[in-house]
Amino acid sequence: MNKEKVVVSIGGSILIPGKDDSEYIKKLAKMIKEASKTVQIVIVCGGGKIARYYANTGSDLGGTTYQLDMLGIGATRLNAQLLAISLGDLSSTDIPVTAEDASSRSTQDNVVIMGGTVPGHTTDAVATMIAREMRADRVVNATSVEAVYSDDPLKNPDVKRFSKLTIDELKELVYKEHGAGRSSVFDPLGVKIAKDEKIDILIVDGRNLDELRNAVLGKEIRGTYVNSH
Ligand code: UTP
Repeated sequence: MNKEKVVVSIGGSILIPGKDDSEYIKKLAKMIKEASKTVQIVIVCGGGKIARYYANTGSDLGGTTYQLDMLGIGATRLNAQLLAISLGDLSSTDIPVTAEDASSRSTQDNVVIMGGTVPGHTTDAVATMIAREMRADRVVNATSVEAVYSDDPLKNPDVKRFSKLTIDELKELVYKEHGAGRSSVFDPLGVKIAKDEKIDILIVDGRNLDELRNAVLGKEIRGTYVNSH
């Protein structure tokens, strides 16, 4: 039986919370091993604090945007190797460096783990590129918010929480956020690819492993389901 294909974009701050990191990664690995019996999985790791540390330090040293992006990519690949180690034989620490490579190495019996590819976007965009390449059924974005909101819930008590969005509605939100200079809920390039390729995106709180498992398996979620069809 052919398994459904799922690409997970996991934020660096989820993967490496900064406290008991190996404990979280062990639990995540256990969940992924179990889920991979049902679905074919590729995971793209973000850079989190380590990426920010290198980007800030590189910036103080006069690094160009290209050089700072390369530092960020390095951090995402280090994080990817940690997760790959935790998966043992199911994965490889020799991580792919392009979306094509990730797609061609993905099988029904392994879990491919990777980080960034080239400067100019984030790992959310990489996840949609892999999904396009391997014709995945969905992209799961494991982030540190429970769902997509109309505004920052910490600053505005009247925010709306979205359980469903169309890809055009997400695009609107991403552009608004972009203008306000905030870090986007999903990379705008990733949104464009998802729209063009009709890839659904599930945005969930990655700190909650039951929720993340439900998203990976295509079950009901508490987060936001973005319909691109
Ligand atoms: P992340 O994907 O972690 O980006 O990559 P982010 O948006 O800063 O992190 P979250 O989603 O808020 O946690 C870290 C940095 O690495 C570079 C970018 O500079 C990015 O900000 N990067 C990453 C690339 O240039 N290309 C890639 O393919 C991936």
